[in-house]
Amino acid sequence: MELIRSINEMKSLSGMWRRESMRIGFVPTMGALHEGHLSLIDISKKNSDKTVLSIFVNPSQFGPNEDFKKYPRVLERDLELAKSAGADLVFNPEVEEIYPVDFRSDIEISGLSSKLCGRFRPGHFRGVATVVLKFFNIIKPDTAIFGEKDFQQLIIIKRMVHDLNLDIEIIPAPTIREDDGLALSSRNIYLTTDERKSAVLVFKALKVAQELVRKG
Ligand code: PAF
Repeated sequence: MELIRSINEMKSLSGMWRRESMRIGFVPTMGALHEGHLSLIDISKKNSDKTVLSIFVNPSQFGPNEDFKKYPRVLERDLELAKSAGADLVFNPEVEEIYPVDFRSDIEISGLSSKLCGRFRPGHFRGVATVVLKFFNIIKPDTAIFGEKDFQQLIIIKRMVHDLNLDIEIIPAPTIREDDGLALSSRNIYLTTDERKSAVLVFKALKVAQELVRKG
């Protein structure tokens, strides 16, 4: 498995793969990998010849009072996990590589970005769409895998791909859960026991409601 930190190197390797008619699958992450991410790698491998995993804690999607500084950064462990899951390449650029000092552009998916989670995290989806579009342009994947866990993010990325005529297939991936039903997330480590219990209760109540709707 290769580890690449520069945009130029990433572009030249993906260009070489494309000239060899290989299909490139892309799994974007902010690292602190868990089984959920590994399942995205698995889906990518089934749909492409080469799988690129990005590990980049994207500052532009964090609000001023959010956890950018303390977001878990465990690169060595992530590289081992990515390799064991069969990723071909990890793209792990520095912040300055992605956002040079004169960077000025933003992608805004109007309407969708300000609803639901976006109401409480102004600017979050702008940061997500901007970095994802940059990665799409650098890696030039044929497919990109996004978890259904972050459902609003998935819808926003699909909308961007449609509106901007990008030739990329977005593949949604089912949520992977722990035994008690909690969705796997790199941020679960922040939950107190009570918060975790409440999250599991909400999930169980939703499942009962879904089952009732299904039975009519
Ligand atoms: O879902 C995430 O981990 C991030 O929002 C993403 C898609 C990697 C963009 O930084």
